Amino acid sequence: MPFPETFLTELTERSDIVDVVSGYVRLSKRSGANLFGLCPFHSEKTPSFSVSPDKQIYHCFGCGKGGGVINFIMEIENLSFPEAVEFLAKRAGMALPEESNDRESRKRSRMLALNKDAARFFYEQLSTPAGAPALAYMQRRGIGPVTAKNFGVGFAPDTWDSLVKAMHAKGYADLELFDAGLARQGKSGGFYDTFRNRLMFPVIDVRGNVIGFSGRILGDGEPKYMNSPETLVFNKSRNLFALNLAKKSKSGYIILAEGNIDVVSMHQAGFDSAVASLGTSLTPEQARLLSRFTNEVIIAYDNDGAGKKAAQRAIGILEKLDLKVRVLAMNGAKDPDEFIRTKGPAAFRNLLEGSEDQVDYRLRGVLEKYDLSQDAQKVAFLREATELVARLPGSAEREVYAMRVATLAGIPADAVTAEVKQRRKRLLRSANRETERKQTRPGRITETPGVKRYEDEASGMAEEGIVRVLLLDGALAGSSALPPPEDFTVPELRHIYTEILARLRGGGEISPATLGGVLNGEEMSLLIRLQEAPLAAANSERALNDYIHKLYECKELRQKPSGPEDLLALQQKLRERKGY
Ligand code: CTP
Ligand code: MN
Repeated sequence: MPFPETFLTELTERSDIVDVVSGYVRLSKRSGANLFGLCPFHSEKTPSFSVSPDKQIYHCFGCGKGGGVINFIMEIENLSFPEAVEFLAKRAGMALPEESNDRESRKRSRMLALNKDAARFFYEQLSTPAGAPALAYMQRRGIGPVTAKNFGVGFAPDTWDSLVKAMHAKGYADLELFDAGLARQGKSGGFYDTFRNRLMFPVIDVRGNVIGFSGRILGDGEPKYMNSPETLVFNKSRNLFALNLAKKSKSGYIILAEGNIDVVSMHQAGFDSAVASLGTSLTPEQARLLSRFTNEVIIAYDNDGAGKKAAQRAIGILEKLDLKVRVLAMNGAKDPDEFIRTKGPAAFRNLLEGSEDQVDYRLRGVLEKYDLSQDAQKVAFLREATELVARLPGSAEREVYAMRVATLAGIPADAVTAEVKQRRKRLLRSANRETERKQTRPGRITETPGVKRYEDEASGMAEEGIVRVLLLDGALAGSSALPPPEDFTVPELRHIYTEILARLRGGGEISPATLGGVLNGEEMSLLIRLQEAPLAAANSERALNDYIHKLYECKELRQKPSGPEDLLALQQKLRERKGY
């Protein structure tokens, strides 16, 4: 649902970027018109994050992120464009367009309000006599009051109609409870509570709405979990338990577990990026959702056959989205909750950060490749294992693992340690040579293909130039010399070009607010970078023509097969056209 341009304009006018950013970043004035602060999107010690009150944009010179106020909220709160618009509208006290006359959306917000009231009811039960069994269970599972509050854990009493009655008193009708999955209808036509005698976990989406519930049985019994059915606001294959909390984590990865108790106990132990799916195996939609918040997922499924199988399936789904995936090898515990309880948070952190157990794991992999009863294979094993150990960063770590290798191979520890030292020296020497080479020949670095920004660098620069000129002088959008977007080689620039041309030609405005809905974060950052880089040429029309000329030149070069005669002919032709 695209928002009307007038609405977006008013929204950004009422959401001053300095005010909004100041809620997250300490900004100070340094010079000129801009404010500076430490970038919230990458870690740094000196400020390179700038906010322009005049242009109403932000731009980080360090990590390159940039955009308008809506993009800022999208980035920092991890929201989609419509979600960020809603967020800012709420902040600015503006009603969303069409909301007032949309029946379905009214029904949705009513259901969300009911869910929130129900969650509050469940939570309050914990401090009544009826909640005693739940409190006892939580105590047994080591869930403390602070954690319970953070998650909003509650209790559905062991009666037929506690919730139904309480919600009636708040003005909700039976049918509303039924539609929200909180009540069921009996044979006689009356309604009764869906969740009874269960520990209740509200499922909260990334915007903070209570969209449904998972109820866990107190103790053993089947089914262990009961989840809200699909409703207008709840879709269990598109949501993850605790993602509302995990999305704020600074850990850089998300831990994917099976059970809510596992998630809660990880958070309680300080692992605040744990989530769980809601009774299904991981779905592609959930993976996509995760990829909005992280680029690394650590799977912490139960340590049993089903868990391992589910992990394999999840790996396939996650890797399709280019997410880095690791699987925790929790030896000696059935799940993360038990691991933390029996071995402690420090051991769990080691596991997560892949120190000790990870090395062992890799050593075991090396060991399995060779038959150590044969001398030749033993030598090969030693070569590979000592290389692995030599690459470990800590000296104590290297020593410990050198000893382990010695034990595995049945040879004296000294011999292995010496070999590791030798290899370590060699590694350091070649690393030094590499940096030296780079330092003494800085010119070479920019020429290496790896650091080129674009596949066809010259064309990319020309495309940047064209966009830049158009941003500076919108009147040039009418020029008939402008190339069709297909001639752009850089997909992001092509998309930006298409969008700004359409807007300029339609008499519209180029603003981060209106473009935020069509450009992705990367494209928006690129746009801001171009807008911010000063344009050298004084005559924008001539500059535009130069860039266009360059673009076609590159195109021709690309299209020519690169036989030497062809190249010569092409050179000749280009020279003629330039007139020298
Ligand atoms: N499950 C579910 N609905 C949820 C969460 C989990 O149906 N909202 C299912 C999972 O699919 C899995 C099992 O419950 O089969 C996960 O259970 P487990 O890890 O055993 O749950 P915990 O709450 O951690 O319980 P326990 O203390 O027994 O480990
Ligand atoms: Mn568990």
